Amino acid sequence: MKIGNQDYQSIWIDGNDPEVVRVIDQQKLPFFLEIKELRSVDDVYDAIDSMTVRGAPLIGAAGAFGIYLATLEINSQTNIREHLSNAARYLISCRPTAVNLSWAVNHTLEKLKDETSPSTLVKKALAAATEICEMEKENCRQIGKHGLKLIEAISKKKKGAPVNILTHCNAGWLACIDYGTATAPIYLAHEKGIPLHVWVDETRPRNQGAKLTAYELGQNGVPYTLIPDNTGGHLMQQKLVDIVIVGSDRTTRTGDVANKIGTYLKALAAFDNKIPFYCALPSSSIDFNIADGMREITIEERNPDEVTNVTGFGEGEIRSVRICPEDAVAVNYGFDITPARLITGLITEKGICRAAEKDIKAMFSYKFN
Ligand code: MRU
Repeated sequence: MKIGNQDYQSIWIDGNDPEVVRVIDQQKLPFFLEIKELRSVDDVYDAIDSMTVRGAPLIGAAGAFGIYLATLEINSQTNIREHLSNAARYLISCRPTAVNLSWAVNHTLEKLKDETSPSTLVKKALAAATEICEMEKENCRQIGKHGLKLIEAISKKKKGAPVNILTHCNAGWLACIDYGTATAPIYLAHEKGIPLHVWVDETRPRNQGAKLTAYELGQNGVPYTLIPDNTGGHLMQQKLVDIVIVGSDRTTRTGDVANKIGTYLKALAAFDNKIPFYCALPSSSIDFNIADGMREITIEERNPDEVTNVTGFGEGEIRSVRICPEDAVAVNYGFDITPARLITGLITEKGICRAAEKDIKAMFSYKFN
């Protein structure tokens, strides 16, 4: 997708030096566009940990490139199996909720399983990580095509009046290498000339909606309005939301969805107001091994400083200010679970299905044991 007139992905291999992975520094957006270089497993860990890179498909891709960088660290003294499995464990430990991270790291490791030649390991790891990026881009493109039909149908029903879509957090191209999951249908509909407008939840505490979704929609010419997180219910009661589309960090085989904290409340409000609520996700975000989101998905707890402080732009720099008493006690859950019963459907690369085991199984039978 575009920033200014230039096409970007949120992660790529340096064109001049294949030993360098480049990423857009999402901590700096929308105030500064800075590209960061990752040269080691530690660099990748730090980038994921600091949320320089974030979003489920992107941290998966970054993890895969982390394994590639680990293969570049191999020398004649290295115990290869131990080195790679330590790197994998370390990278996976960085963020627990999005399943894409462990999926992509393990998938890359699997491709290296029987290999002992260092140069072949490097080649194979780079090929696997690149393949994951290409696959995720294609998944998002397909999600866009399937989701577009939903927007088209609403537009037709509204006789061309703008379709109002509400989204939460950033399930956009920044989070997904390109196109995005929740945003892919929006970008395709916009490209097709379908009038639409997006309500963008600011998404406290880190404000990925305000900082990232607003930024990328604006850069790509999509009309949007930024709203405080508590506004969605009111808008729905006023019939100002036609459809909600959000992303997912981990979806169970039964259709429970873990997504950014606050998603559940939007689903409840949508359910009460009979507004369609869709989760857009590639199959790399489905954890086919688990059935109960509430019991089986680990919810990341982040630093309470993200709650007690707000980070923004002032006097030419990015700064953080406290918004509560100095000794305030705060807690910071990163995600919540939206139970399948509140979800109208899942928009996947294979099509749209109900959030139910039978339907997910029909779509992804090869993933079920
Ligand atoms: O904590 P983050 O920013 O990495 O959270 C990820 C998200 O933005 C989402 O929850 C998103 O909707 C799923 S990722 C496409």
